[in-house]
Amino acid sequence: MRLLILGGSWFLGRTIAEQAIANGHDVTTFRRGRTGSDVGGVSTIRGDRTDPASLVRLAEAGPWDVVIDTSSFVPRETLALTRALEPVTTRYVLVSTVSVYEGWPTHPLAEDSPVLDCPADAGPGYGYDGDPGPTTYGFGKAGCERAVLEVFGSARTLLLRPGVILGPWEYVGRLEWWLRRMVRGGRVLAPGRCGRLIQPIDVRDVAAFALRPHLTGIFNVVAKGRDTMGDLLSACSTVTGSTAILEWVTDEQWLIEQGVRQWTELPLWRSYHGAWSVDADRARQAGLTCRPIQETVADTWQWLLAGGAAVEHERAGELGITPAREHDILRLWDAVQLDHCGA
Ligand SMILES: NC(=O)c1ccc[n+]([C@@H]2O[C@H](COP(=O)([O-])OP(=O)(O)OC[C@H]3O[C@@H](n4cnc5c(N)ncnc54)[C@H](OP(=O)(O)O)[C@@H]3O)[C@@H](O)[C@H]2O)c1
Repeated sequence: MRLLILGGSWFLGRTIAEQAIANGHDVTTFRRGRTGSDVGGVSTIRGDRTDPASLVRLAEAGPWDVVIDTSSFVPRETLALTRALEPVTTRYVLVSTVSVYEGWPTHPLAEDSPVLDCPADAGPGYGYDGDPGPTTYGFGKAGCERAVLEVFGSARTLLLRPGVILGPWEYVGRLEWWLRRMVRGGRVLAPGRCGRLIQPIDVRDVAAFALRPHLTGIFNVVAKGRDTMGDLLSACSTVTGSTAILEWVTDEQWLIEQGVRQWTELPLWRSYHGAWSVDADRARQAGLTCRPIQETVADTWQWLLAGGAAVEHERAGELGITPAREHDILRLWDAVQLDHCGA
């Protein structure tokens, strides 16, 4: 199969490239040459997806059996790109996100849940950022989906809507933060209930699903929800050989009242009901398999130990609670517990 990956130098795009090469496909990646590095065995075309001349060169290098687009964020750029590639491409795979749903992250979601309204020719920053949602990111991705469907039609399009993705080469550093926190030891602020079911998916499982031949349609791509927050943090503790003590602050409303920011200050903590209630049965029936969270954690730690480092990412700086603030919150929580005992 002649496969073109738009991106391909880190995290998801890179993992797709690695698996495609291992499966014997003829793989080309298209990128500017700024971040990450190319996987051995791929052909590369250097260019910018916002540059019309680059799109002409990409089309001339076709035909492509499948284009896998991991780096679409601006609808009108995706529209121009898909129009350039449509005559020389059989099938288009767009990596979208669960953030396209109107109900994300507050409502349970399935593929037929309402999607944010964004035109196919919208520019950057379309929409608005609400709390907890929606986001301009989600609007943009919804517009990109619309652009691909408009140009390729549903019979030639695969839309993937992953939830949070973890694993080696992760760039935001959400899992890395927890791993390094465990290494520091001491009392660790563990948010919410230990038994809360969560659905992060391993990057290698998303990649394998993206490479399934001939697949078209719309699919949520999240783990089954059999792992818990406790499984995740315990695995972080185990693989790092940590002596840290997990202190579960079970009253999430209390934690929110202390001003602790979900998702960023305590990565991967989401109190909203919909965050981990995404239905991915359709993908499972189409062949999605998900490894246990312990494997994702162990392999990410091994990658970090081997010198792995997140590519410099604009969102990396927003992660993590400071040691002093964590200490203060835990002391306040101790007092709340004592009050309850005394009452
Ligand atoms: N992380 C999550 O938890 C999560 C969850 C849901 C969905 N997603 C989606 O999953 C995808 C992740 O993809 P990814 O990990 O491969 O990273 P990405 O950030 O989408 O893509 C980065 C790749 O695109 C290339 N690139 C960036 N700008 C470019 C431009 N103007 N022209 C040409 N190439 C460009 C980069 O190489 P150069 O810098 O060399 O150009 C790099 O290879 C994204 O679409 C994201 O929205 C992620």
